[in-house]
Amino acid sequence: MLLDLIAQKISGLKDVLPLIEGGKGISVSNGETCGAWAAAGAVGTFSAVNADSYDEKGNIIPQIYHGKTRQERHRELVEYAVAGGIAQAKIARERSNGKGRIHMNALWEMGSSQEVITRILEGAKGCIHGVVCGAGMPYSLSEIAAKFGIHYYPIVSSARAFSALFRRSFKKCIELLGGVVYEDPWLAGGHNGLSNAESPNNPMNPYLRLVELRKVMNSFNLVSIPIIIAGSVWWLSEWQDYMKNPEVGNVAFQFGTRPILTTECPVAKAWQPKLMSLKRGDVKLTTLSPTGFYSSAINNEMISNLLARQERQAPIVEISELKVKVFGREVCLDSDYTERVNQWISNGFTTAMLTPENTVVFVKPEESQTILKDQRDCCGCLSACHFSSWCQTKGATGKIPDPRSFCIQKTLQSAAHGGNLDESLIFAGHSAYRFAEDPFYENNFIPTTQQLIDRILTGF
Ligand SMILES: Cc1cc2nc3c(=O)[nH]c(=O)nc-3n(C[C@H](O)[C@H](O)[C@H](O)COP(=O)(O)O)c2cc1C
Ligand code: SF4
Repeated sequence: MLLDLIAQKISGLKDVLPLIEGGKGISVSNGETCGAWAAAGAVGTFSAVNADSYDEKGNIIPQIYHGKTRQERHRELVEYAVAGGIAQAKIARERSNGKGRIHMNALWEMGSSQEVITRILEGAKGCIHGVVCGAGMPYSLSEIAAKFGIHYYPIVSSARAFSALFRRSFKKCIELLGGVVYEDPWLAGGHNGLSNAESPNNPMNPYLRLVELRKVMNSFNLVSIPIIIAGSVWWLSEWQDYMKNPEVGNVAFQFGTRPILTTECPVAKAWQPKLMSLKRGDVKLTTLSPTGFYSSAINNEMISNLLARQERQAPIVEISELKVKVFGREVCLDSDYTERVNQWISNGFTTAMLTPENTVVFVKPEESQTILKDQRDCCGCLSACHFSSWCQTKGATGKIPDPRSFCIQKTLQSAAHGGNLDESLIFAGHSAYRFAEDPFYENNFIPTTQQLIDRILTGF
């Protein structure tokens, strides 16, 4: 199969394969994976979200927190993140053998993101060619990139989001805009940029959204800037219509889920049984993330428990016969819920917890203890957190901590570092079920990154 895929100038280097490793935190895409993608002549992306750093023997330094306050622990987290990002950038540089491109991915809404990104770029000078940023509106990304003379790549899920970013800030730094990542909000793994006007149950045609994005980019004179298509890209043969197509323009492709099963990926072995057992529909798009964004993850025990918890929810009213104690205080609940509440209580969900939406949820006593402990242990990994009410600028969001959400730091760290995968957050794209159907992975084959890229270049 002959693909219309053309090597491009990416982040300043000519003839780079327009195949891009999607950044994956925490520690799913790292220096090893990134270096391998670059060594294959493509683009690797390590995650700068609380990346691992190592002691002098090469062991991962566990991220343990000693500070008494959240603010103190947040500062420890920033130091871990900076050390980890620098370590991964250096590994990527070494593994790349000077080939391909090395990108760094960060979440705009991670705690102290601008400081972390800036300090990693300072500490790993010359190692990083591009910085990629999503999960939020990274207005200052261009300024940071300009300071270091590297390219920047915003991740957007609509033409409207890009237009807002460009008009407000990117127009001042067009020369370093390396590409625009279009991450399909209904298909991609990780956090998803669905707007309030879009429904999780009504996916839109990616082609039409890409054409719209290209029109907006062309109107800003960004005709030659590539759109990097992300979200359920598996076989390139299925994307032929998007290549050499003037309506979409110059494109590259980003793979998020597929590279998890490569020998260089630190979680490949541990996640393989889960990934290989997935069926269509086993990845869920939910609003559970403490960031407030939609996100897509494998529907394991943790996700299904949280979804069930949302169902065990009753509205608070001023006066009612139905009364429950919430940590000693009596609250009235909508009496329409009497039967359901009795049922939940008789099933062992005896502890009522307040939510920020004037409701209570019913959980088992031991679950409530875990929720409260996780909230107490918060180390401020986000700029603002629905689950713990942590807020980087004000100390607290002013809202009630939300027991319907969870600690993303704890559950992602656990997924990456040998924790129980049923109790961890395993982000995945909506095509992850294809591992089980794709003959490439027969007999539990895990390819090297080079083998995966060679395979992708055949179209499959
Ligand atoms: C395990 C996992 C973790 C991810 N973490 C991040 C992240 O930290 N930052 C980010 O911008 N995107 C993240 N993503 C999104 C990927 O970079 C990529 O854009 C997306 O997965 C593409 O969709 P696909 O998985 O269908 O290929 C993550 C995806 C997965 C599967
Ligand atoms: S509670 Fe929220 S801000 Fe705190 S560490 Fe967990 S996810 Fe991060």
